[in-house]
Amino acid sequence: MNRSKWLGIVTVACMAAWFVAGEARAQKTKGKTRPLTTKQMMKGWTGPANTELKKALEAESVDWDAVKLQAALLNEQGYVLMDDGRCPDEIWAKSSKALQTTAAVLLEKAEAKDLEGSKAAHANLIAQTCRVCHPVHKGK
Ligand code: HEC
Repeated sequence: MNRSKWLGIVTVACMAAWFVAGEARAQKTKGKTRPLTTKQMMKGWTGPANTELKKALEAESVDWDAVKLQAALLNEQGYVLMDDGRCPDEIWAKSSKALQTTAAVLLEKAEAKDLEGSKAAHANLIAQTCRVCHPVHKGK
């Protein structure tokens, strides 16, 4: 094989690698077909849901409907994060699935009006979801 053929092969291989890396980047900032970016989801849905939840659980008289609403919304977000080809790796998958399960536990505790159980479930949700995904995927 001559030199220019080798160069041709190397160029094509580099372009393919670049293309694949680009796909992987795109996957975590946005899904493959729908417009919602991960940044918008976090800013408009995940962040506010978590803030509202905290507020509701710390209020003098707990608004259980608000806790149930935000727990159900966070549970749903665990599915949206896994949908439309957005998930890039195992850490993402693990923390998104944890959002489904930990939010479901919180919803159960809220349905039972168990304040201590709800607070523990919320702390567990944060520990297993935001704090697992962000160190790897936020700001990179
Ligand atoms: C599966 C991964 C994942 C999980 C779980 C996750 N996040 Fe995020 N979050 C991200 C990524 C990625 C970004 C950065 C998005 C960007 O800037 O493109 C982000 C950014 C944010 C931001 C900043 C948004 C902005 O205005 O730039 C907030 C607020 C946020 N997340 C809140 C939360 C909270 C609260 C939780 C837990 C209840 C959580 N996130 C769980 C992936 C995740």
